[in-house]
Amino acid sequence: MKTPNNKTTKPRVLVTGGTGKLGKVCVADLQAHGYDVFVVDTVPAGENVPHMVADLADFGQTLDALSSVGHHIYAGVAPQAFDAVVHLAAIPTPRIAPDAHIFQNNIMSTYNVFEAARRLGIRNVIWASSETTLGEPFDEKAPYAPVDEDYPLRAKSAYALAKVLMEDMARLFCYQTPDMKLVGLRFSNVMEPADYAKFPGYNDDPQERKWNMWAYIDARDGAQAIRKAVEWQATGMHAFIIANADTVMSKSSTDLMAEVFPGVEVRKKLGQHETLLSIEKARRELGYEPEYSWREAKAKAPAKKKQV
Ligand SMILES: NC(=O)c1ccc[n+]([C@@H]2O[C@H](COP(=O)([O-])OP(=O)(O)OC[C@H]3O[C@@H](n4cnc5c(N)ncnc54)[C@H](O)[C@@H]3O)[C@@H](O)[C@H]2O)c1
Repeated sequence: MKTPNNKTTKPRVLVTGGTGKLGKVCVADLQAHGYDVFVVDTVPAGENVPHMVADLADFGQTLDALSSVGHHIYAGVAPQAFDAVVHLAAIPTPRIAPDAHIFQNNIMSTYNVFEAARRLGIRNVIWASSETTLGEPFDEKAPYAPVDEDYPLRAKSAYALAKVLMEDMARLFCYQTPDMKLVGLRFSNVMEPADYAKFPGYNDDPQERKWNMWAYIDARDGAQAIRKAVEWQATGMHAFIIANADTVMSKSSTDLMAEVFPGVEVRKKLGQHETLLSIEKARRELGYEPEYSWREAKAKAPAKKKQV
């Protein structure tokens, strides 16, 4: 990777929330692609992953973590600052904790990570935004389909409100520090291969997962998007929807829209199972291309996506 300061050493990436569902897959992916990864989480990342246990809702702990250049783990190695930060740490779902706690934890940890990065000269920051910023649950209809990055964000929970405000905050960090790059990845619902066993059951009731227009993101493809965002050369704040190329359903996307969202404008001819959360911007700008699908995982895992 060509780093902003043109270092030739192995690029060093700090991953917050690296112990979590998406984080552990992201850490493995970055390591497999030659990155020197350091995890910060409230839960230890295990013996094989250099890590620090810290609460990122506390600015002092965040500043310490992001300025961590060695200590025991890198003893004998010349200190090297982080080239990039991938910020995934958060309480990841509405209502799994009291609203105000979710809001406080998620918004403060994100402010602290952005601000610590800014002060320490780390200019490459990727963070987990969310599909909830698009107005989920879609009981109220989406303005059009496939949903994309072009309409104003909407929030229907404290969790989504924090994610929406993070995007505004990132934009204003870049206004203040124009050479920063802050990329928000609006992930769909994160899935691991083990989750695919329940997918065929979704076909019984198209209403069951209309809340996110039947989208999902395989954690391995989510990790790919993160790596490509880290490597993407840009400045400023940018947001991308990150989903898989297909839906969770066997019924066609055209039929699903007609049955569940009649009257919503469908702006393109849809592929058989094409995602209704558009990934065209991520494809175009980041070179993101999902490689997995639950359809193939039914037969063998890991499996490459064939049909969309
Ligand atoms: N899971 C999903 O379906 C989904 C969908 C869209 C976006 N996201 C976002 O993706 C990111 C990762 O989600 P996940 O599913 O891997 O969640 P997860 O709960 O599995 O992992 C999140 C990790 O963050 C850590 N964490 C939380 N608060 C922290 C704090 N204050 N300091 C340090 N560590 C803290 C937790 O210990 C946990 O290990 C989150 O930002 C989430 O909001 C998730």
